[in-house]
Amino acid sequence: MRIVSGIQPTGPIHVGNYLGAIKQWISLQDKNECVFFVADLHALTTPYEAKDLQKSVTEKVIAYLAAGLDPDKVIIFTQSKVKEHTELAWLLSTICPIGELERMTQYKDKSKKYKENINAGLLTYPVLMAADILLYKAQAVPTGKDQEQHVELTRTLARKFNQKFGQIFPEPKSMMPEYGAKIMSLSDPKKKMSKSDESKSYISLFDEPEVITKKIMSAETDSGKEVVYNVTKKPGISNLLTIYSLLTDKPIPEIQKDFTGKGYGDFKKALTKVIIDYLEPFRRKQKELQSREVYIKEILEKGQERARIIAETTMLEVRSKMGLT
Ligand code: ADP
Ligand code: TRP
Repeated sequence: MRIVSGIQPTGPIHVGNYLGAIKQWISLQDKNECVFFVADLHALTTPYEAKDLQKSVTEKVIAYLAAGLDPDKVIIFTQSKVKEHTELAWLLSTICPIGELERMTQYKDKSKKYKENINAGLLTYPVLMAADILLYKAQAVPTGKDQEQHVELTRTLARKFNQKFGQIFPEPKSMMPEYGAKIMSLSDPKKKMSKSDESKSYISLFDEPEVITKKIMSAETDSGKEVVYNVTKKPGISNLLTIYSLLTDKPIPEIQKDFTGKGYGDFKKALTKVIIDYLEPFRRKQKELQSREVYIKEILEKGQERARIIAETTMLEVRSKMGLT
């Protein structure tokens, strides 16, 4: 299968991004043709510092590699370096009903969060995402739960295009992990863990052990003291149990059993150790990769060449079908 996915460069990659998206990417890379990019064009829709943007892109590429993506197996590049993404986004915008965009949850949330900057790009964001996916004729898109609605819109646009202009695009399906598609914030377990929130609400893939300890020990928990999974009554503990289970491959009922008669404090201490140990090789690899600027640059250049070949071929077909040749 052809697989496509991306992550925005702003903010550090956290355990939610890893469990929702990157972990799936890694398990898909051996048997599929994978295209993974850093979505710098999407990041322009919310406040950002222009001078820091490309540094954030490099940091994300380092995170992809440190987490286990193999640049010999997958295509890795920066979205803005393949111009066809924006061209196809414009073309798709002409068949996308505005109503579909206005009902997107992420648009509604971000318009509330960034009241001073409700720009048109925030609204058309999913059209660019559809272009990212359809440009490579992807069959599947591995992401967390919050992106499912955008992938659904991508299918709608693919169908509309095919009906109107002739069959080109497969309708890509969403791929989400059974558990971990929506890891919640450590400071407010009713909200998803997000890079754009305060740093104590997430564990970054590269947080040092002391930082992890502080964040987990102060993570919001619930009333009561039993370590029991119950999303409505104990959203905080349930979220921490989910993280524990996914990082240890241990089913939640077994973890609950291990902590019978013990309190939140003991559980949090154990979870802290699990996270520190799991992320230790990531931190090590990150430090090693940080000094290999040329290597990272070469990966991106090679990735962008490979991506461009596919993108150019698709655009020849699209332009011809839409009467532009
Ligand atoms: P963020 O919302 O933290 O800024 P992005 O929007 O860049 O992250 O998301 C990158 C990828 O990580 C997407 O596939 C998204 O669905 C996934 N993701 C983001 N937050 C979470 C989360 N809390 N739990 C699971 N997956 C998530
Ligand atoms: N919008 C996605 C996010 O915020 C990132 C993204 C951009 C993406 N283009 C994509 C994900 C294409 C999957 C496929 O997480």
